[in-house]
Amino acid sequence: MDFLEMMQQRKSCRSYQPDKVIPREDLLKIVEAGRLSPSGCNSQPWKFIVVDSPEAKEKLCDAVVVGNGVTGAPWRHNVSAFIIFVEQPAKVMSSVIEHYKNSQRFAQGDLGAACMNMCHEAFSLGISSCIIGMNDQEKMEKYFGIPHGQEARLVLALGYSAETTSFQKVRKPLEEVCSFNHW
Ligand SMILES: Cc1cc2nc3c(=O)[nH]c(=O)nc-3n(C[C@H](O)[C@H](O)[C@H](O)COP(=O)(O)O)c2cc1C
Repeated sequence: MDFLEMMQQRKSCRSYQPDKVIPREDLLKIVEAGRLSPSGCNSQPWKFIVVDSPEAKEKLCDAVVVGNGVTGAPWRHNVSAFIIFVEQPAKVMSSVIEHYKNSQRFAQGDLGAACMNMCHEAFSLGISSCIIGMNDQEKMEKYFGIPHGQEARLVLALGYSAETTSFQKVRKPLEEVCSFNHW
């Protein structure tokens, strides 16, 4: 399968087979795809926490419930493993800091790139995934020992799909999102 075919077939999965364990070997391959990802000034401003024990997964399921019971992942309970993406202080070139007055300017993009590379590696291993955007930072720190203020930006859910329905990619048309040489 070439890369574009893979892009067409990969989809966010919101129904997982229960009680299926992802071998640690595969989890580490997925993390490796993140670790090898590009980042601004090669600062690698990330820490990945793999959550695969039943106790830790239960805590994670609570940590993605925010405020008054809202969650982006009502489907989270059969997920085999999660990966938490914690943004780290980025060591970038002084010219970047001078220009943007912000050493974290590239960090969220870096985490996004690492996360997508992990999704694609998972896909190549037959493992489905879904990104979870919202979480409760206080719970993340309490449950997983994340140092205060180091933000858990994303969570990636991983597991074996139980989805049965077919799907169609919903995307804006090419002409709307792409132009050559000018706006
Ligand atoms: C930053 C980010 C946050 C997301 N958060 C959630 C989420 O909380 N819950 C969810 O079900 N999907 C979430 N998604 C998945 C998107 O809804 C999904 O990628 C989009 O609808 C396109 O569908 P596809 O991935 O199947 O192509 C998130 C995706 C991104 C990139």
